[in-house]
Amino acid sequence: MDWPKGVDGLSYGGDYNPEQWPEEVWDDDVMLMREAGVNLVNVGVFAWSRLEPREGEYDFGWLDRVMDKLHAGGIGVGLATPTASPPPWFGIAYPDALNTRPDGVRQVHGSRDTYDVCAPAYREASRRIAGALAERYAGHPALAMWHVHNEYGSATYSPHAERAFRTWLQEKYGSLDALNEAWWGSFWSQHYGEWEQVLAPRATQYLPNPAHELDYKRFTSDAMLEHYREQREILREANPEVPITTNFVFGQWVPVDPWKWAGEVDLVAFDSYPSAPDERAEQQSALHADLSRSWAGGGDWLLMEQAAATVHSKDGAIAKAPGRMARHSMIHISRGSKGAMFFQWRAGRGGAEQWHSALVPHAGKHTRMFREVVEFGGALPGIAHAAGSPVEAEVAILWSPESWWATAGAHLPGPVDYLENVAQIHRVLRDRGVVVDFAAPEGDLSKYSTVIAPTTYMLSGAAAENLRWFTAGGGRLVASYLTGAVDEHCQVWLDGYLGGLTDLFGIRVTEHLPQPGGELRALWNFGAAERFCELVELRGAQCVTQYATGDVIENQPAVTVNPFGEGEAWYVSCKLVDEAWDRLFEELQLAGPGCAGVDVVDRGEWRFIVNHTEREAQVGQVVVPAGAWTVDKRP
Ligand code: GAL
Repeated sequence: MDWPKGVDGLSYGGDYNPEQWPEEVWDDDVMLMREAGVNLVNVGVFAWSRLEPREGEYDFGWLDRVMDKLHAGGIGVGLATPTASPPPWFGIAYPDALNTRPDGVRQVHGSRDTYDVCAPAYREASRRIAGALAERYAGHPALAMWHVHNEYGSATYSPHAERAFRTWLQEKYGSLDALNEAWWGSFWSQHYGEWEQVLAPRATQYLPNPAHELDYKRFTSDAMLEHYREQREILREANPEVPITTNFVFGQWVPVDPWKWAGEVDLVAFDSYPSAPDERAEQQSALHADLSRSWAGGGDWLLMEQAAATVHSKDGAIAKAPGRMARHSMIHISRGSKGAMFFQWRAGRGGAEQWHSALVPHAGKHTRMFREVVEFGGALPGIAHAAGSPVEAEVAILWSPESWWATAGAHLPGPVDYLENVAQIHRVLRDRGVVVDFAAPEGDLSKYSTVIAPTTYMLSGAAAENLRWFTAGGGRLVASYLTGAVDEHCQVWLDGYLGGLTDLFGIRVTEHLPQPGGELRALWNFGAAERFCELVELRGAQCVTQYATGDVIENQPAVTVNPFGEGEAWYVSCKLVDEAWDRLFEELQLAGPGCAGVDVVDRGEWRFIVNHTEREAQVGQVVVPAGAWTVDKRP
């Protein structure tokens, strides 16, 4: 399916909230959009209270006019279903349909994302507003795609959710005996005698059961998917030619498994909000882009939101220096995004996000920001042709949302930061110029020569077999500490951990040794490890390097390699520092044309270069000025 429908080349634009502005601003908006080269805007994302001011009563007049104006200006519309923010009347009429926190407090309207995805009244109201929008706009010439909901992620622990959870568990386990066994129910007297005794993992006295928590995340992902599917079917029926999507967001708190969801959307869309002020923002953006492309099966995807200038993160507000908006956009476009979209078009005057940046700042068009927006929009049509070929990667990093979720708890064998470990591999390889894909633990690995599995704490039997098959067939597998510590039920893999793959790695892991924070453990000729080491027993593997210090681990294997079938399995039994990973990748001859601060992505006959540094960069014959980007024929 072609997406967005009727939008040629790369998409450029953002969330557009005309309902927050008087009508006289709308013509100005369309004029400025045209000046900036905007060709797609997302409308109505949080507009429910203006579309259905009273239950069952619709006001579409304003949206009709907006859609017509945008169409007349040649701008496509990603029309949102506004279900991420039910109106006040809804919360008053159906208080039980707003979400309940883990501590049992039921939330009230006043912000957004306050809904209980399992509440019948919310589901019905969602179908109704989606249906009304479909009926009215399915044939509108401006309609380029449907944008269902916004950033699924608001979990609920309500009685509605609890009931649905039990049904989900019954389908999954078939019997209470199987559930009790999977959850290791005899521990702390948690053996269930009736299904009704099973609750959502609400606030409890001390450590919760990790298997219970993990199943609840899986369940929530499925419950949200059902909500999405209901809307999708309604929209699809009204106009099968218009692509349908929802925008993914990134965070350990988000109970959505994108590997499962990606097949349900016509285009993978992602909102990228790097949280760091320094060059880690570029690393995070590249990580987001490579994840999104991989969820999309290696094909096109769309950067649906990013901040044009100031970003609000947990570290406070961070300004974007001149040129950075374009460079971040180019990180995404070079890595497969079919455009660059933003939150939001025009900066708001009021409301909780009034200080969030926008393509049109509060000060209007005569601003540095808007000039950059126009300049970048003007450049995009000239590179659209180059963004058509696939991004080629020979190396994949395993991305396991379930390992991420499962390492969120406080019950772990030591400090483990799954995301940081994944990001570290991505960062070190990016600094070596290697563009990587991500792969699902149970996904197709056949096109990769090397697969790196950082701290894949949870390994299902099927995933373990997948890794075995990949290596036996000639692949090079590199796994790091805590690989396969537990199975899909959060139960420990016995007799050496490693997801039962002790023969593949030619080792057994016999002890976990969390290390004091801040102390480094030197490895012979290999840099150092920090925070976590394991005691490894060789069972056929060769030792590549040993620990130089440490009570139990001194002179014990730190990195090993084992030939297996046609391939080989490397094991890193500790958290290496960046320099040590770099040393290992040197040994494995993983290198590409880019380097630290200079992204180089080859696509078909085209080479994208983004120079984030303050110096001129030379890549082959091409010289890229400081802070600039280029798209040229590949040498
Ligand atoms: C996104 C959200 C937008 C806006 C933005 C601000 O997560 O989808 O509506 O809130 O964050 O950073």
